[in-house]
Amino acid sequence: MMIYLDHAATSFPKAPDVAEAVALFLNQAAGNPGRGGHRLTVAASRVVEGAREDVASLLGGDPERTVFGPGATFWINAVLASKLNAGDRVVTTSLEHNAVMRPLRWYEKKRRIKLVTIKGKLPDGVPSTDEIVASVTRAPTSLVIMTHASNVNGAVMPVAEVAQAVSPVPVLVDAAQTAGCLPIDFAKTGAAALVASGHKGLLGPTGIGVLLLAPWFDIEALVQGGTGSRSESHEMPEHLPDRLEAGTVNTVGAAGLGASCAWIRERGVEAIHKHGRQLLQRLVDGFRGVPGVYLHGWNPDTPRVNILSFTMRGKDNGELAAWLDRKHGIMVRAGLHCAPSAHQRLETFPNGTVRVGIGPFNTEADIDALIEAVFDAYENGIA
Ligand SMILES: Cc1ncc(COP(=O)(O)O)c(C=O)c1O
Repeated sequence: MMIYLDHAATSFPKAPDVAEAVALFLNQAAGNPGRGGHRLTVAASRVVEGAREDVASLLGGDPERTVFGPGATFWINAVLASKLNAGDRVVTTSLEHNAVMRPLRWYEKKRRIKLVTIKGKLPDGVPSTDEIVASVTRAPTSLVIMTHASNVNGAVMPVAEVAQAVSPVPVLVDAAQTAGCLPIDFAKTGAAALVASGHKGLLGPTGIGVLLLAPWFDIEALVQGGTGSRSESHEMPEHLPDRLEAGTVNTVGAAGLGASCAWIRERGVEAIHKHGRQLLQRLVDGFRGVPGVYLHGWNPDTPRVNILSFTMRGKDNGELAAWLDRKHGIMVRAGLHCAPSAHQRLETFPNGTVRVGIGPFNTEADIDALIEAVFDAYENGIA
């Protein structure tokens, strides 16, 4: 038996059409997009541009301002590299992933930026819009960067409220955990930019992610090189997406991502979110009947995506997770989930938690199996 409940790390299985779309691309259309004019180049360009349209329409972005890159981490780094200068003030939250915290700490140390971290209140650690706005208005601020939903407890942050309230200060949204899991209309949020990974809620392959830019916000290219356009020039072309897509784009990833976004649109993000929330509630209710289980960062009143962190009294998180896989075929993730700051805020540092990430293909039976397995751990131990 295999029950995959680690959707927050990466989705599995992928959307039903992804593998076929990738194979079809490799077998029939694997030219280099935008390089020359022969049939395979045109076929590859179609696939990449189709994927761009699909992902932009799913997230509420303008396709011309939706750029492909290796993932959310890359695009966070690219935005910071373009926007931060020595002495700049940046506001962030205490629930951020290391994809945000590590570069920010680097800029703090090496470029002397002033980093302000807003500590949200427990139990979920989500700062209020007012707390963030108060900090931004206290001193000139170059950038606000915040996760749309924590990858530790799934709590959703008020990104649109913040973006609108702090305008014109730009807000960069890390939507790694919400894209494909929670309806997003980027254009309406008022945020300057949004990054997402292709392989999590978007149900596509690894190695591809997107940056969405508002019409009024732009960044410099972090990487420069060939684009297939304006080849006579030693400078990057001015127009997007080419200006930010130096080198051959991940065409195989784009083929898969286009297929997964089409599947998500068909199923509906709202329906996916509702399904996940129902399963999450079933899990929370079920865990109430298991002695020794403690939920971390859980607040029934906070909007959330389908992530739950728990620990069990007297059990080591890593050993419990390994035993769940070994004995019950259930895959969850133990530890700090690349988010030590979030665990510090939720008071689960340094041991972390066991994290359950629910995906669109999980069923009530999967959730019941996890509850029973954790009950088994309580009754019989995990030796
Ligand atoms: C909140 C958050 N931000 C950023 C990332 C980084 O995404 P990627 O590894 O696709 O770059 C992750 C991945 O776990 C995440 O959960």
